[in-house]
Amino acid sequence: MNKVKLLFILDDSGIPVYSVYFDGKPVILPSRLGFVLDDDSTFYKGFELVATDRKQADQTWQPVWGETKNIRDHYEQLTLHLRQKTSPGKLLDIVFRVFEDGVGFRYEFPKQAARKYFIVSRELTAFAMAGDHKTFWIPGDYDSNEYPYTTSPLSAVDNSSMVNASTDIAVRDAPDRYSVQTPLMMKTADGLYINIHEAALVNYPAMQLHVDHTLLTLSASLVPDATGNKAYLHAPSHTPWRTIIVSDKATDILSSKMILNLNEPSAITNTSWIHPMKFIGVWWEMQIGKSTWNYTDFPDSTDSKGNLIPNGRHGANTNNVKRYIDFAARNGIPGVLVEGWNTGWEDWFGNWKENVFDFVTPYPDFDVKAVMAYARSKNVHMIMHNETSGSATNYERQEDTAFRFMKLFGYTSVKTGYVGKIIPRGEHHDGQWMINHYVRVAQKAAGYHIMIDVHEPVRPTGVQRTWPNWLACEAARGNEFNAFSNGNAPEHETILPFTRLMGGPMDYTPGIFAIKGYSQVKGWQVHTTLAKQLALYITLYSPLQMAADLPENYDTHKDAFRFIKEVPVDWDETRIIDAEPGDYIIIARKKKNKNNWFVGAITDENSRNATIPLSFLDKGKQYVATIYSDAAGADWKNNPEAYIIKQSLVNDATTLLVSLAAGGGAAVSIMPYIPGPGKKPELYK
Ligand code: NOJ
Ligand code: CA
Repeated sequence: MNKVKLLFILDDSGIPVYSVYFDGKPVILPSRLGFVLDDDSTFYKGFELVATDRKQADQTWQPVWGETKNIRDHYEQLTLHLRQKTSPGKLLDIVFRVFEDGVGFRYEFPKQAARKYFIVSRELTAFAMAGDHKTFWIPGDYDSNEYPYTTSPLSAVDNSSMVNASTDIAVRDAPDRYSVQTPLMMKTADGLYINIHEAALVNYPAMQLHVDHTLLTLSASLVPDATGNKAYLHAPSHTPWRTIIVSDKATDILSSKMILNLNEPSAITNTSWIHPMKFIGVWWEMQIGKSTWNYTDFPDSTDSKGNLIPNGRHGANTNNVKRYIDFAARNGIPGVLVEGWNTGWEDWFGNWKENVFDFVTPYPDFDVKAVMAYARSKNVHMIMHNETSGSATNYERQEDTAFRFMKLFGYTSVKTGYVGKIIPRGEHHDGQWMINHYVRVAQKAAGYHIMIDVHEPVRPTGVQRTWPNWLACEAARGNEFNAFSNGNAPEHETILPFTRLMGGPMDYTPGIFAIKGYSQVKGWQVHTTLAKQLALYITLYSPLQMAADLPENYDTHKDAFRFIKEVPVDWDETRIIDAEPGDYIIIARKKKNKNNWFVGAITDENSRNATIPLSFLDKGKQYVATIYSDAAGADWKNNPEAYIIKQSLVNDATTLLVSLAAGGGAAVSIMPYIPGPGKKPELYK
């Protein structure tokens, strides 16, 4: 398919082997495929080719929400029907889809008398790299994706010191020090960008990658269940797609739609109730220790009558929530999230307790009915919070009750969370049991017309195409780490789109304006400028975007907050203007059903100039660009809140030249110029 070439052979031992080339350059050197099963240690060799099928497709489809209105799905498919030569001749199909931007493949287990139920002990899929590529990686941890990125040659991957040092991550389990998480981003010495991940992860564990330092080969490492097995399958069935996205342009990696294309269409027919939105929340104030989720300070702190003794710092009290609703209504922000409204937070995780939350009992100072009435009167959507503290069994038991409660009290969406060790005990966040749990929750929520945003799940693999009510996930190190730890390095957000966001949107919670001074700990601060926080609304795509800071910090920066008020969360078009993983990203997007464009540009710890040609604008038409950028002398560390806002007249021939401070960024809104009584802005120069 254009520059991408796939080669498949059965070697002398009947082992399936594939390789991938881009423009004649090796991307994947000959690499083996196959399995070790619980009852069959040789389900990777002795195969013969029975038949092949080929098909081509070129179709365009429309996502319910997303970065573009139309998505082209253009591929050539090759299916290899394999049979083991020894009796009883067990069958395995391997399906390759070759796209213009890479290759996806999956294993299919056909219906056959010789194989019904089976257990996967190991998947042997390998990805042999052609060099010691520059790699952007986090540890292959069974329970967390919340690590900072390391950039190193493949041969230097060793996660042990990072895992040991990451005491700010609640649950860590990374037994293989040479294992990394996907999406894995690599760059070759001769300028190829290679991204390895998976698509449509359903009923199977997540695939991490074990790095062989000498052979420079990555091999699939499936997250085990409580007994050490990997997957329980029943033929006919199939694995998720393994994806290799490749290009000589970094921008092509970010615009790839291969992972979405490899997922099933929406399972929800009527999607009219699904609406992307921005929200604020009673949240950052707890993250920075200004208030608490818990109502009392001790699990057993009751007075002589058995009433809870309040600590006086509980954030989710009715009056405070009303203050947030007022702010949302005043500023046209559709949603308000409230965390810590329900009982259980005194002892919520760490003790591996099965029944912590019941998801329906409010603390005494949170009046559910009054909050509902107030939000309704102000036309604001309340967002429910269901922290499970990792007890998925408890959540599955309570779920219907929880969803009915939401419907009763006017909540149209829920943020869930899985902080803590998983119950069923011994299971992992990324194992097959939990993968099925996340999908079950999305499916059940859909039945109630509830949208979801999941914190601490497996990283996404495009399954949001099938369950478009599953709007966003965390599954990475979010902005919150700047509140309670050393935080995220200035380069962090320039890597995320090339790694975690390849699989789907992230609830990163951007928009912190008070960059410093919120923490008692010396040195803890957000590692960006204020202008970069604005740019993140464009560079980190999510159909749910939080304006994460406190209302009072927005009220003192009304001019900058205007960008957050105006920025959409659903788009007709996206142009990746320029990008380099770990260095910078510039993206322009066009608002759904409107001729308004928004641009975000961010840099790492180095200051640099962003060159932004506006050639995407309608020919000959005049627009007003409002440019929010770092002021002269700004930088993330010493002067992060200095910004300037300028308006100019622009057109399709304009090229914006914006200087980004160290750790800085710029955000631009571009709307058609409508003559009015005010002064006409001057042409951009
Ligand atoms: C971790 C989530 O990422 C965060 O957003 C939430 O506030 C806490 N868990 C409590 O549920
Ligand atoms: Ca988290």
